[in-house]
Amino acid sequence: MSGQKHFVSDVAEVRVAATINVGPSMTSKANPHPESLRDVAGTVVLVGAGNMGGAMLEGWLGLGLSPAQVVILDPKPSDALLVRIGPEVRCNPPRETLTNVAALILAVKPQVAPDVVPGLAPLAGPGTVAVSIMAGKTIAFLEGNLPGAAIVRAMPNTPASIGRGITVAVPNGRVTPQQRTLTTRLLAACGQVEWADDEALIDAVTAVSGSGPAYVFLMAESLARAGAAAGLPADLAARLARATVAGAGELLHRSDLEAATLRQNVTSPAGTTAAALEVLMAADGLDPLLKKAVAAAVRRSRELAG
Ligand SMILES: NC(=O)c1ccc[n+]([C@@H]2O[C@H](COP(=O)([O-])OP(=O)(O)OC[C@H]3O[C@@H](n4cnc5c(N)ncnc54)[C@H](OP(=O)(O)O)[C@@H]3O)[C@@H](O)[C@H]2O)c1
Repeated sequence: MSGQKHFVSDVAEVRVAATINVGPSMTSKANPHPESLRDVAGTVVLVGAGNMGGAMLEGWLGLGLSPAQVVILDPKPSDALLVRIGPEVRCNPPRETLTNVAALILAVKPQVAPDVVPGLAPLAGPGTVAVSIMAGKTIAFLEGNLPGAAIVRAMPNTPASIGRGITVAVPNGRVTPQQRTLTTRLLAACGQVEWADDEALIDAVTAVSGSGPAYVFLMAESLARAGAAAGLPADLAARLARATVAGAGELLHRSDLEAATLRQNVTSPAGTTAAALEVLMAADGLDPLLKKAVAAAVRRSRELAG
């Protein structure tokens, strides 16, 4: 994971800085130097070492968390993951050997949660924070199955797999300041971390950042189709659209300027970009469409949470 995170060379940064005004800072805003995890005390138990859990685990080890402190509970973690994390990470040890659990990270699919979470209650002692990233599984569900536990419900997104995700975390009333700090440090291995006190916001978070990467991928697909409709060979249009979405995203990531300022900086009055933006920013343009899409995702998130 750490190799992928630093894929932009210094040469590329200099070239971008010289040609486009992206503001005073070219440093990454998103968690440029996640804190080392070398000093974390206690055991970190990961339940479900799939896409998301595996990405988090690799992030932690990359930040210096001792593999001897990590335990995976997963009936069949992938061989590729096991090779990458090495033999020191314990996999499915007898439950009674798990003591001093500082963090219990719940990263199984929501569908299996009712079967898996109740059995984890003995691991969640007074010093444990249980951090769930399961979509739609409420704090009430987690409290019901892990009685008395300090609980954080978190919603990450898929760029977590390259350390560029954003996660919103909501604590229950039992989370201590130290547990909040530990949770932030563990989640920060996958990107930015924001805290919210109101769990009801999670549905909107899910609709914006949780599902959001798919909207951006769709933007690349739509732009490619529009390019082909404008006469470009389809494969060239796809390459142009992909590189444009990725490049603009990277520019936004590295700049301190607002998205609107970056947009204005590349829009000459009465030019070609302005002509397109007139359509996209019309009363029936992108804003109402995205509002409708996000509202649909919020509704679905509420339905799934029951
Ligand atoms: N992916 C996202 O973009 C995203 C975003 C936000 C939140 N989330 C949440 O993150 C969680 C994990 O998603 P994911 O995409 O990483 O799913 P995933 O790749 O399927 O990972 C889940 C892992 O849990 C394992 N598992 C199944 N039964 C288990 C059990 N009884 N005990 C322990 N582990 C078990 C699965 O093994 P098998 O494969 O062998 O079944 C798999 O390795 C989900 O709750 C999802 O809602 C995901």
